[in-house]
Amino acid sequence: MARSKDWSPESWKRLAAAQQPNYPDPVEVDQAVDTLSKLPPLVTSWEIEHLRSVLAEAAAGKRFMLQGGDCAERFDDCSPDAITNKLKILLQMSLVLVHSSKKRVIRVGRFAGQYAKPRSEDLETRGDVSLPPYRGDLVNRIPFTPEDRRPDPWLMVRGYEKAALTLNFIRSLIDGGFADLHHPEYWDLGFLEHSPDAVEYQRMVESIADSLRFMETLAGAQVGELQRVDFFTSHEALILPYEQAQTRRVPRRPGWYNLSTHFPWLGMRTAASDAHVEYFRGIRNPIAVKIGPSMTRETLLHLVDVLDPESEPGRLTLIHRFGVRDIALGLPPLIDAVQSSHRAVLWCCDPMHGNTQKTVSGVKTRRFDDILSELEWAFDIHASHGSYLGGVHFELTGEDVTECIGGARGLAEVDLSRAYRSQVDPRLNYEQALEMALLVGRKMGSLAAQTVRA
Ligand code: PEP
Ligand code: CO
Repeated sequence: MARSKDWSPESWKRLAAAQQPNYPDPVEVDQAVDTLSKLPPLVTSWEIEHLRSVLAEAAAGKRFMLQGGDCAERFDDCSPDAITNKLKILLQMSLVLVHSSKKRVIRVGRFAGQYAKPRSEDLETRGDVSLPPYRGDLVNRIPFTPEDRRPDPWLMVRGYEKAALTLNFIRSLIDGGFADLHHPEYWDLGFLEHSPDAVEYQRMVESIADSLRFMETLAGAQVGELQRVDFFTSHEALILPYEQAQTRRVPRRPGWYNLSTHFPWLGMRTAASDAHVEYFRGIRNPIAVKIGPSMTRETLLHLVDVLDPESEPGRLTLIHRFGVRDIALGLPPLIDAVQSSHRAVLWCCDPMHGNTQKTVSGVKTRRFDDILSELEWAFDIHASHGSYLGGVHFELTGEDVTECIGGARGLAEVDLSRAYRSQVDPRLNYEQALEMALLVGRKMGSLAAQTVRA
């Protein structure tokens, strides 16, 4: 493999790495990495290769990817309710998307490892005290004290354990039939019946149940593949010692795999970090890169060359996150650039991160309408360039939080304080997330109808 030349899981250390914690004791970091590197992997290369093959189909327009979850997982959220609620909303959204897009949906959670956050400042100052910022539970703790904010490498081991517990529960739920399309009632969130979208959702569920019964009558058997759906994990691969420790060779396959997740992504703030790019170029996983308004054609083409030198189908996903104001100007040149290089990337839209704003009282929020509009622009821009938008990426939760403004229930600025729980970015709550899926599904349906007419 050309890309393994001069590469090792720790070759990133030769280069400058952005967004890394300043661990006070390097020996302790090595000990934590050593501990982690002896533990069993969280995922397998078979699953990773399977994901790569379905992402390749999405890039070719045959599938659609739904990626979603918290901005930052908290170790405390490693609880049965939080995990099942997140699975439920993702399953409901995917059911809606399957129904309206008539495409198979790849479900990818931002979970089991989404514990680290990039920060804009290296120090947080309150009064005359400056301390390292909170970088996520993988790195340090929230309270503003020197002990809590000191980066602690052993938190990487705690993070791995929480990821393992999360994944173990998700796997058992799915193996036990939780995701069986014959039983969408398993995914009902307690509060769904009060949702303004409940009727439309229930109609879809019934129509899917009808189609299933029809197909099974024809086939004279249960439709096996529909009984179990796949779930994949993803997180931003930010803290390089954590990623390095779980990067392994596997028997009978060439190369190295990051076995802490199926689908790591390179965040917007680290797409220009040489050490991160170095790490990503050497792993065999499918990878994603977040791109925003500051990305130029030249830098993007360089990244595509370095990260996907052999143009492997399914290898590279580009997640654009421009914001509703910048997408119309920013996205077309990047689509052109990729088309001119004849690369088959999977395009995905993250309509969350370019639309963050602060209310007058200083609360971080996002407007439902901005999120939806950016997505609608994204579908239209790709369609008018002969490109395919094959995925969407959301920050969402299965809980009844009040962090984003708008949606059918008309959440307003004054409502935000009722249940604002995120320590970082605002998430769609379960109702807003389901409504978003219904509206995205409608948009996909109308685009498909236009294509048929054209
Ligand atoms: C995120 O996904 O939470 C994030 C920080 O995104 P981005 O890198 O696109 O800013
Ligand atoms: Co975020």
